Amino acid sequence: MSDELLRIEHLYQYFPAGGFGRRKKYVQAVDDVSFFINKGETLGLVGESGCGKTTTGRSLLRLYEPTKGRIIYDGKVLFDSGDVPLTGEDGQPILENGQPKYGTKTAVDMKPYRREMQIVFQDPYASLDPRMTVGDIVGEAIDIHGLAKSKEERYNKIQHLLEEVGLNSEHANRYPHEFSGGQRQRVGIARALAVDPKFIVCDEPISALDVSIQAQVINMFEDLQHEMGLTYLFIAHDLSVVKHISNRIGVMYLGKLVELAESNELIFHSVHPYTRSLISAIPIADPKTARASKRIMLEGDVPSPLNPPSGCRFRTRCPYATERCAGEVPQWREVSKGHFAACHNLDQVN
Ligand SMILES: Nc1ncnc2c1ncn2[C@@H]1O[C@H](COP(=O)(O)OP(=O)(O)OP(=O)(O)O)[C@@H](O)[C@H]1O
Ligand code: SF4
Ligand SMILES: [Mg+2]
Repeated sequence: MSDELLRIEHLYQYFPAGGFGRRKKYVQAVDDVSFFINKGETLGLVGESGCGKTTTGRSLLRLYEPTKGRIIYDGKVLFDSGDVPLTGEDGQPILENGQPKYGTKTAVDMKPYRREMQIVFQDPYASLDPRMTVGDIVGEAIDIHGLAKSKEERYNKIQHLLEEVGLNSEHANRYPHEFSGGQRQRVGIARALAVDPKFIVCDEPISALDVSIQAQVINMFEDLQHEMGLTYLFIAHDLSVVKHISNRIGVMYLGKLVELAESNELIFHSVHPYTRSLISAIPIADPKTARASKRIMLEGDVPSPLNPPSGCRFRTRCPYATERCAGEVPQWREVSKGHFAACHNLDQVN
């Protein structure tokens, strides 16, 4: 049996942004993104604001219907637009008689999967109904999925969940505004856990929190994962946040996945110029190492996803860009076992 829990292949999410006919414009928020996540694993997803992390997370849960692509969860095809090639483990199209092989157009009813696939949001305040008590917020999830047979079972479940995330039973009668940011995020996590999920998209769950409690909440995510065998897609702006919690890390730039590898491999042996620039921005405590690692400063701003650069989307800021980078989209390929990147000039970069 496969260890894989989730796989997305050639996922696209384009949002309409005005115009008519041939002038119709789209925000190309996610463009041809492919990855898999193994059972019990944490895949970190990083990149600058607006690069498409949240959109990727929401699209793979089908909270947004993907524009194109394929989503496979626990061996079941949840979505297939039917027009993207099937991909092998090496990231390359599977061939049949020399031609790329395609799947069948599919969009299953998500109801049976909504319970197993949860999301924890970035802003714990905006995602909790201010008129509901914490007990009712957590209880609502239990009710929707009919997970308690009696009032007593429901009550006990709520108490247990609050304890699980480090709150106590008397918190059940309070309202979200009576909590600190960190406590509110714990409520959001208890709500996600209430339905006994297998997979959670954690969308920057600690970035709105005070630095002093970020580590506590990260540790809680790790403990819960071990206890309940959870699988995470853990989204963050910052590599320093995900490097401890993630088994593997993917890096996005302007809607594209540019590199993905096992965490230490990505931190110490990254091959893509954009990943290198992110890594060189991580503060290093040891002055010797800090001197040895040169800071790569990127020039210019991130271009608009409404009108991204041709070829490689990173080329307007890449110190290694050549003519080819403007004319040809770099292919996503396995550069060494389990290490993927998309760049034409890896030889020059490395
Ligand atoms: N519902 C939407 N309609 C139109 N455009 C959208 C929508 N959601 C996101 N976008 C655009 O898609 C792009 C990617 O946004 P997304 O929220 O996925 O980025 P992100 O990487 O999560 O950023 P952040 O780190 O700031 O949360 C942005 O340009 C954003 O403006
Ligand atoms: S493909 Fe070209 S522009 Fe893109 S990262 Fe590689 S060298 Fe830079
Ligand atoms: Mg986001």
